[in-house]
Amino acid sequence: MAAPGNMRSAIVTAAIMIAGSLAWVAGISLAGLEASRGFFGAGPLIADANLILEIFLVAGITYGFLLARRGNIDAHQLNQTTWVVLNIGLIALVMAGSMQDVRIAKAAALADWRIAVTWLHAGLGTLTALAGLWIVLQMNNVLPRGLHVAAWKNLMRAAFAGYWLTALLGFATYYFWYIA
Ligand code: HEM
Repeated sequence: MAAPGNMRSAIVTAAIMIAGSLAWVAGISLAGLEASRGFFGAGPLIADANLILEIFLVAGITYGFLLARRGNIDAHQLNQTTWVVLNIGLIALVMAGSMQDVRIAKAAALADWRIAVTWLHAGLGTLTALAGLWIVLQMNNVLPRGLHVAAWKNLMRAAFAGYWLTALLGFATYYFWYIA
């Protein structure tokens, strides 16, 4: 167990990181700059901001996986909690709203790669974010005991694979929206 003082300052640092990242993304929208040129040259600024932060997410969550392997459970818990929360913020601020651009009018719309890949990404992403949120609430003792998942290790493994797969499908989504 880390010393309480160290743990407290790590929690404050994580909270500032989440708030800063989400303030950046919200600021782009509030300033009406969503559609401005992004920094990679292909997509709009808001998509590039989301892309960059999600790349950090897979890197960060993979680092958190290694922390658990090394037995550093406190650091693992705080690290994974941080990424799960940041990701939910990005879904709410950027991605959920974009789903209106891929509404399915007819079943034939699913033959369009852009629409099919985006929905696959959104479906897997929703399950993954819910699994991540459940684990975080259970492990941080917010969920009542009766709702605790006994097979939590398998749920963690599934969520880890889910974040990776969803991110890869997110990169494909970016490709079909802005490059292809
Ligand atoms: C759970 C983990 C998730 C990860 C790691 C993730 C990752 C990504 C990445 C890397 C992109 C490309 C950048 C971009 O175009 O903005 C993207 C785009 C997108 N994602 Fe996700 N995503 C997740 C969950 C979700 C969920 C739950 C939804 C639906 C509610 C969703 C809907 C979208 C849409 C519509 C886009 C393209 C629209 C846009 O550019 O704003 N994603 N995602």
